[in-house]
Amino acid sequence: MRNVIVAANWKMHTTPADAGELARTIGARSRTPGVLRVICPPFVCLAAVRDALVGPDVVAADGNGVAVGAQNVHHEAAGAYTGEVAATMLVGLASWVIVGHSERRRDAAETDDLIGRKLRAARAAGLRAILCVGEQLDERQAGRAESVVERQLGGALAGTDPGLFSMTDAQAAAASAVGPWLTIAYEPVWAIGTGLTARGSDAAAMATAIRVTLARLGFPDAGEGVPVLYGGSVTSASIDEFLAEPAIDGALVGGASLKPDEMAGIVARAGLTAAARRAQAGIVAGPTN
Ligand code: 13P
Repeated sequence: MRNVIVAANWKMHTTPADAGELARTIGARSRTPGVLRVICPPFVCLAAVRDALVGPDVVAADGNGVAVGAQNVHHEAAGAYTGEVAATMLVGLASWVIVGHSERRRDAAETDDLIGRKLRAARAAGLRAILCVGEQLDERQAGRAESVVERQLGGALAGTDPGLFSMTDAQAAAASAVGPWLTIAYEPVWAIGTGLTARGSDAAAMATAIRVTLARLGFPDAGEGVPVLYGGSVTSASIDEFLAEPAIDGALVGGASLKPDEMAGIVARAGLTAAARRAQAGIVAGPTN
């Protein structure tokens, strides 16, 4: 059974002075068994957010707390890279990292090859990666959405050891508690920050295409195991359309993730999905509060 995940990408919002309080409020108001919650603040707010999330008031009844993620990482381990942050520097501050966000592809000219190197650097440091993929509007209109995403996946995952996707039972159990090493976020670029969302059925079709592509790329064990999130103008009002799709395992949320009410609503709905999946798989739920 794949994890249900709600990840918050705060982008370039919050300061070290206010990020901790916002994270704590969101954490306390979104306590929901069965949902992995991740908050990705700016680099300079990681420590404040980490420290704010240790309290028992943010831990859900099943023991899930809120994980902290970075929004980017450098592809080299160390060196003369002014202003950059290596994966090993994040250890202890964050356990997740977003790679390949379309805003970095656009603003920092990140290529699929570079994103692949970041992914491998993150993996080597033990960070869990959220790899973002997604097409531009003209690419969708030209019927090329799936081929663009296939190219992005192929570029980013070239050189990845297929063995990373084959988990023993013990590894699978550990991953279900803390999340797998790789999660894919399908974020159509035209839906980011625009108020437009993809249709649930289109996002589900893309999630299926992503899994088929992973198998074709030589990762047969990845297909069913890798969580695929939807991102792009997700709110508590629009999330249900995506969670109704069995191929979609949660959301990567931008603007709405800065609003505690919205995050509480989104995670609560994800909790219903997680409970339904557990019931379908015949797994008895743990204690609730
Ligand atoms: P919005 O939810 O603000 O559209 O942003 C989505 C996103 O880019 C998350 O990474």
